[in-house]
Amino acid sequence: NEGKLWGGRFDSGPSPELDALSRSTHFDWRLTLYDLAGSHAHAKALGAAGLLSADDEAAVHAGLDALARRYEAGELHPDPSDEDVHGALERLLLEEVGPELGGRLRAGRSRNDQIATLLRSFLLDHSDVVSRLVLDLVEALAEQARAHLGAVMPGRTHLQHAQPVLLSHHLLAHAWPLLRDVDRLADWRRRTSAESPYGGGALAGNSLGLDPELVARELGFAGTSPNSIDGTAARDAAAEFAYVCAQIGIDVSRLAEEVILWSTREFGFVRLHDSWSTGSSIMPQKKNPDIAELARGKAGRLVGNLAGLLTTLKALPLAYNRDLQEDKEPVFDSVDTLEVLLPAFTGMVATLVFDTDRMAELAPQGFSLATDVAEWLVREGVPFRIAHEVAGACVRRCEELGCELDELTDEQLREISPHLTPEVRDVLTVEGSVASRSGRGGTAPVRVAEQLDELVAVAAKA
Ligand code: ARG
Repeated sequence: NEGKLWGGRFDSGPSPELDALSRSTHFDWRLTLYDLAGSHAHAKALGAAGLLSADDEAAVHAGLDALARRYEAGELHPDPSDEDVHGALERLLLEEVGPELGGRLRAGRSRNDQIATLLRSFLLDHSDVVSRLVLDLVEALAEQARAHLGAVMPGRTHLQHAQPVLLSHHLLAHAWPLLRDVDRLADWRRRTSAESPYGGGALAGNSLGLDPELVARELGFAGTSPNSIDGTAARDAAAEFAYVCAQIGIDVSRLAEEVILWSTREFGFVRLHDSWSTGSSIMPQKKNPDIAELARGKAGRLVGNLAGLLTTLKALPLAYNRDLQEDKEPVFDSVDTLEVLLPAFTGMVATLVFDTDRMAELAPQGFSLATDVAEWLVREGVPFRIAHEVAGACVRRCEELGCELDELTDEQLREISPHLTPEVRDVLTVEGSVASRSGRGGTAPVRVAEQLDELVAVAAKA
């Protein structure tokens, strides 16, 4: 068991099959710099506790720095015999500073409290990156909204024409959930950076008088885990992070689906920029919304990462179990997925070219102004129940005649109801309809302009 972190009580080394199953360096090696930072902090704690002389501590720091430099130069690699990043870095440190000194560093810590801390540190860094990328997408949506403040479109419920809305209003409806995701990440960061599990040892804490607060401060945490069993065994921080990533994927997928629909010939609402769309290997005419489709597909993957991690955690007894090694790949994958998806998706959104004439033409179709007729009647003193009936009768009459609401003659209107005077036509325009929805959050141009300012202000503070 030469070179292993354990082995004193074993007669024989692990089988190659066990090694192959157990090994995690192919995915946890990316935690190298976090592991080294933890070791620096731990060396300080050992020094402060009188377990490393000042000279020895300085030599350990120098050795760790040398490893970091080699890693950053791409010259540090795990060996096939290394079980995980922690074991590999201990072996490499022993090579740097000698077995006598290197062998002192492990006192009072365990891979269990190390990994619980390092994973938090890694995710904290990447949560910043993901937040930034989501904010870039919010900004692209805000820019498109600003560029189309006056444009109208058919607003839909059940995918059926419902009421006309502003295109900018609709685009901002995709931006707000993304801002909430950014807020979720900030909230998650506050909770996750509050507790460093380092110092919890394997599960029970350390007996060497080490100061976990010192380690926490060095690593940028606000405090330490109040319970070493919880600190080493809990992974709710990873699961919550995976949830927010999944929610971002879901929110993006809803816009993705609309872009896919909008870019069909049948909708014809939007054209994709050549640099942000793909062709077909056989059909020369094709222009495909692959970014949006990949976004839709990757949402499933992000949900899968969350579901997989939660399933690993379900009914897992305290404290550390090796099952927990399965915590890393799902969250690493979620981070990698979003960090490659979001820039592409943002580029696609920023370069969408809307056919606002087409949208304006379709906005009043499908009798989407029927509610305006009903609400006009209400303003004329008609009870809404009756007004709804009357407006419905207008739609039925139009369907019989094959015309639109504003094409009903004065006489046809009067036949449907004596309340329907020619003045009703004042509300039978898309512009009139959207302008009338002027309560907070409504689609009236003045409200949407305010909404855009509000969004930009919230995003600036995020
Ligand atoms: N590589 C392990 C993990 O990722 C940490 C090591 C803990 N192993 C152990 N046998 N206690 O969870």
